[in-house]
This record gives sequence, C-alpha cells and structure tokens, in this order.
Amino acid sequence: MNPDFTLIHLPHAAMVASPSSYIKKSTVAQSLIVVRQLKKTYWLGEVAVPALRGINLEIKKGEFVAFMGPSGSGKSTLMNLLAFLDVPTSGTYRFANVNTSDFNDNALAELRNKRIGFIFQQFYLLARTTALENVRLPLMYQHMKKSEQLERAETALHKVGLGSHMQHESNKLSGGQQQRVAIARAIVNNPDILFGDEPTGNLDSKTAKDIMKILQKLNQEGRTIVLVTHDTKVATYAQRIIHLQDGLIV
Ligand SMILES: Nc1ncnc2c1ncn2[C@@H]1O[C@H](COP(=O)(O)OP(=O)(O)OP(=O)(O)O)[C@@H](O)[C@H]1O
Ligand SMILES: [Mg+2]
Repeated sequence: MNPDFTLIHLPHAAMVASPSSYIKKSTVAQSLIVVRQLKKTYWLGEVAVPALRGINLEIKKGEFVAFMGPSGSGKSTLMNLLAFLDVPTSGTYRFANVNTSDFNDNALAELRNKRIGFIFQQFYLLARTTALENVRLPLMYQHMKKSEQLERAETALHKVGLGSHMQHESNKLSGGQQQRVAIARAIVNNPDILFGDEPTGNLDSKTAKDIMKILQKLNQEGRTIVLVTHDTKVATYAQRIIHLQDGLIV
C-alpha cells in the first residue's frame, strides 16, 4: 500500500497517539515554534490569575532566545507551556509545523521525552546516584540496549566537560558540575530544543559563565535554546531577548 495513503487514512486518534510517526526531525520548515494568542489563567479558588494574556511568538530553528521580565510577568508559565510541561487555557501552539492543541497526554509525553530538553535552577538530579546513571535515565524508558544507553550518556557527559566525573555521585559534585550533569541529561536524547528556567540562578558568576559557554557551544552546533533569566549578563549570550510584562510580550 502507498504509505501516504496509509497516513491519510489513519484515524485522527491514532495520529495523535504517536506524533513521532508523522513529525519528522528533518522537517524543512524553519519555524520550530509558532504560538498565537496563547493564554493561561490559573484559578486560586474563585479568583482568576491571568498569567499569560495573549502571547504571539515565533522561534526559528537554531535560535538562542532569552525571556526576561519582572517577577510574576509569566516567564516560567510561558516556558512551561512551550516545553509541554503544562497546557494553555486557549490559543494555538504549532511545534515543528504541527498543531499540538489536540495532542493527548501520551502524545505530549512522547513529544516532551523525544524532542524537548529542559534544565532548571535546582538541577533536579537523583542524589546518591552517579552522574552517568542520572544522564542515562531518560534513555531507560526507551527500547535501547544498555550498552548504547551508556555510550550515549558518556558522550553527553564528555560534551559538558565531565568525562572524568562520570562515576561521581551527583550530590558530591559542585553546583556547576551538577548543572552540567543536568545539561548532559537534557541533551542525551538529542532534542530539537533545550529550555532553561533560570539555569544559572543558583550559581556564582564565574560558574554561570562556564555554563553559558556550554550552552553557547550547543547552540553553535545547531541546537535551539530558550532561557528564562533575570541576569542581563546571561541574556547577552542570546541572539534575541523577549521581554514580558503582565503576561504579555512588550
Ligand atoms: N500554579 C499557579 N497557581 C496560581 N497562580 C500561579 C501559578 N503559577 C504561577 N502563577 C501566577 O502566574 C503569574 C506568572 O507567574 P510565573 O511563575 O510565570 O512568573 P515569572 O515571570 O516566572 O516570575 P519569577 O521571575 O518570579 O520566576 C504570577 O502572578 C503567579 O503568581
Ligand atoms: Mg519564573
């Protein structure tokens, strides 16, 4: 049967359940992210908190973008929506040319696991677990030989300059080293995009600079990077700074 014919006649639900089957990594479109009128309202009991009030945004493949803005302006909320950690109240989000609005939980999880990497201010590593095992973790949910998982995790750790610390337990590493393990874990799946919410927020300025140099190198290799930061020095590494205020881009 003509494969195109099969695809066209797949029930919608089946397509939704398996985005990787029809979102190809080699998509020719330049835009990785397109959002239109994205809104997010949180509810505190009866009180509506409009965290995002209509975001229009496009991020192209290979860009390095920083979100800045006052506390409470919606930076983390926006990043969480873009990274599929949360869902919008309304608006559309096209990722790699596919409208993700109808994706079910499984489809979103698959997208998150395969196409997205993220790092946070608090590194979120497993304590008393080696750097290597922390980095290998995202691969353990996939059908992949253990030897290949380890090889990929080792490569990622070498990339962030931690080749000599693979067997160190994460809680015995410095903050900067822990964030480097977190970066290695975030890129071990070779995601299209790496998100970071204040990734240098817990680090001194010298260590923050080391981390930014690693992110810069990853970007120069073609990885799209989106960071939230309060730090103007960190933002200078981005090609584009997007300012948020009261849930809107200004
Ligand atoms: N889970 C939640 N429930 C209710 N309100 C929330 C929730 N998360 C965020 N908010 C509210 O949404 C708005 C935006 O919050 P958000 O965390 O996105 O801001 P931010 O720009 O990341 O701030 P910061 O710089 O302090 O991290 C704020 O008014 C915040 O109080
Ligand atoms: Mg925040």
